[in-house]
Amino acid sequence: MKKKIVFSGIQPTGLLTIGNYIGALSQWKKLQKKYFCIYCIADLHALTIYQKENVLNKNILDTLSVCLASGIDPKKNIIFIQSHVSQHTQLNWILNCFTNFGVLKRMTQFKKKIHLNKNINAGLFSYPILMAADILLYQTYKVPVGKDQIQHIELVRDIAYRFNKTYGKKIFTIPKKKLHENYGSCIMSLLSPMTKMSKSDDNKNNIITLFDSDLTIRKKIQHAVTDSDNPPNIKFDLKNKPGISNLLIILSNITEISIQKLEYYFYKKNYHDLKEFIIFNLCFFLKKFRKKFFLYRKNETLLKSIIINGAQKAEKYAKSTLKKVHNIIGLNIK
Ligand code: TYM
Repeated sequence: MKKKIVFSGIQPTGLLTIGNYIGALSQWKKLQKKYFCIYCIADLHALTIYQKENVLNKNILDTLSVCLASGIDPKKNIIFIQSHVSQHTQLNWILNCFTNFGVLKRMTQFKKKIHLNKNINAGLFSYPILMAADILLYQTYKVPVGKDQIQHIELVRDIAYRFNKTYGKKIFTIPKKKLHENYGSCIMSLLSPMTKMSKSDDNKNNIITLFDSDLTIRKKIQHAVTDSDNPPNIKFDLKNKPGISNLLIILSNITEISIQKLEYYFYKKNYHDLKEFIIFNLCFFLKKFRKKFFLYRKNETLLKSIIINGAQKAEKYAKSTLKKVHNIIGLNIK
């Protein structure tokens, strides 16, 4: 039986965080066992902010190496660069014409970005339509993402549904979102655990990047918000103890020890004990990760062959879907 398709993407912008790893990449790795996975480095999405040529190229190869170091196997699956498969931008235009203006205006990420950005370009607005093209080109069954992408995936479903309904034929598979199962779909900021940990945060003390040194990790975790319970109480409670809960989620996901077992282990211990355990485990985990990363990163011949191969394989799927779309809308005169 043909395996169902999983598709997801990641932007090659700056240093990725432990949130990107837990919420997305760790899921990507797990899903390879059961599904045929297609993962894309979304370089076109990264253009909504100004990019310098040599920086973007470097970031693309860095992000590919991060994916490989996270355990994505390019032999069994496809990993490719979005701009290398031209069908993404072609389908993007067609889907523009099937997307409601008012719905786009209501996208929370867009509303947040226009407050933060000086460069409010049209790309920021139509960003989720390119995501729709990415996902729908591959007849995707599941899309592993973090919580911040839920609204975009709902929009993609709407676009696919509207297109199929208009033409009375199932041209696109309606995709489903796939969120992390161990509370990892929204890793929060260290200093304000009610907001998402984000690589674009100006205050870098809020985030743990995959490349932070041991000393930096120590400082950031030591300052991470807990609470003022007396006696200290290491208990998972997202509503009343967001700081402690966020730390337990991070710890549980990098050690693969359940939150329940961690609560038991830290019963009657204090926040300092918890933080020291997190520092030790994060440093250990990221050291191992970086060792793998640098092995891939220094082998640009391998990286480039993975990229070329990935684009060739992805294009076969993309072409087949785009042909169906062209046929049904009447763009098929030969
Ligand atoms: P991006 O590059 O911002 O993030 C990549 C993935 O990481 C997840 N993520 C998090 N998960 C948990 N906690 C966090 N703090 C956290 N921060 C980020 C994101 O939810 C995402 O899954 N537009 C997308 C890239 C994209 C895409 C696609 C995704 C392009 N095309 C098609 C899915 C399908 C983005 O900017 O992700």
